[in-house]
Amino acid sequence: MSYRIEIIVPAGLDALARAEAQQIGGLRLDPAGEHGVISATMRGPLPALFNLRCAISVFLMRSFAIPRPRALLGDEHFRAVLAMVETVRRLHPANTFQTLFLSAAGAESSVLRRFKHELSERLGLAVGDEDGDLVLRLRPSPDRSGWDLLVRLTPRPLATRPWRVCNREGALNGPVAHAMALLSKPRASDRVLNVGCGSGTLLIERLLIGPAAQAIGCDTDPEALACAYRNVAAAGLSHKVDLRDWDARQLPLAPASIDVVLADLPFGHLVGSHASNLTLYPALLREAARVTRPGGVAVFISHEVRLMERTLAELPVWRSEQQLRVDLGGLYPRIFVLRRVE
Ligand SMILES: C[S@@+](CC[C@H](N)C(=O)[O-])C[C@H]1O[C@@H](n2cnc3c(N)ncnc32)[C@H](O)[C@@H]1O
Repeated sequence: MSYRIEIIVPAGLDALARAEAQQIGGLRLDPAGEHGVISATMRGPLPALFNLRCAISVFLMRSFAIPRPRALLGDEHFRAVLAMVETVRRLHPANTFQTLFLSAAGAESSVLRRFKHELSERLGLAVGDEDGDLVLRLRPSPDRSGWDLLVRLTPRPLATRPWRVCNREGALNGPVAHAMALLSKPRASDRVLNVGCGSGTLLIERLLIGPAAQAIGCDTDPEALACAYRNVAAAGLSHKVDLRDWDARQLPLAPASIDVVLADLPFGHLVGSHASNLTLYPALLREAARVTRPGGVAVFISHEVRLMERTLAELPVWRSEQQLRVDLGGLYPRIFVLRRVE
């Protein structure tokens, strides 16, 4: 049995996401196309796709050679749609899905309302208003030969991490945090410091890739630390993480005592302000350089691209090795991979 699959990833992290997807047995990727989308054919067990940590969500896809969505209400096509949904439902325990949601241009047209109603009746699911457990998308096929129907493989997006029991405004997207941790080239011997750890996303995603010799998170906001404690505990990592109320501008750490610094810096929108960033960034990057050993690495994400560039120009101890522009749903921060040089 083979299935057409569409994997949605943060645009800008396509190469990392493709490399991860290539590790999944039975998954054959189409040549790279639109940014943020990986199309593929799956010949292996579908649950293997639930392990994609760079992915936002994964959909089962089928193209229908029909001129208009109305044709989906016809018996043959409607049964094919139900079969797609059953394929997805069979991957999960009974009653995992309670509501359904259809995302489509014209989802409130009479035809698509009827389509949703028929689906809801046949599947025994309520129609959700905003989102649903069972998410379907309908769109014209890119080559205009018909219409594509997509069914999300999981009741929640893969980006919604099971360990996240405490959320905070400005918390980093799980797949982006995972990608940042990968960019640090994790090793078991790493002494990792996450400055401005907030709810703990980067630390948790780093440790879920593999062990570290040390993992410290620090933040000046006690509520952020309390949130990080809860998430770290939910991830089963409490005994591996040290959370501290340290100021990233003045760390009680010895010079060159850290191998990897990770940070999701205040962008100045939801967290912090541009005015405070003007002094925070230079002080934080200078202090991070002090505690990082020569040859060590820092992976930062920030929307303050010009400020980062200006600050790095004044701090030659950091050599920029890679920069990735990421699409965070209309916000385009940049990931900076920096090497601590002598
Ligand atoms: C963008 S948020 C990090 C969000 C985090 N990645 C998450 O997923 O929840 C930036 C964090 O930096 C912290 N912060 C700001 N100034 C700081 C400083 N001088 N020292 C340590 N942390 C600081 C803020 O309290 C905030 O939690």
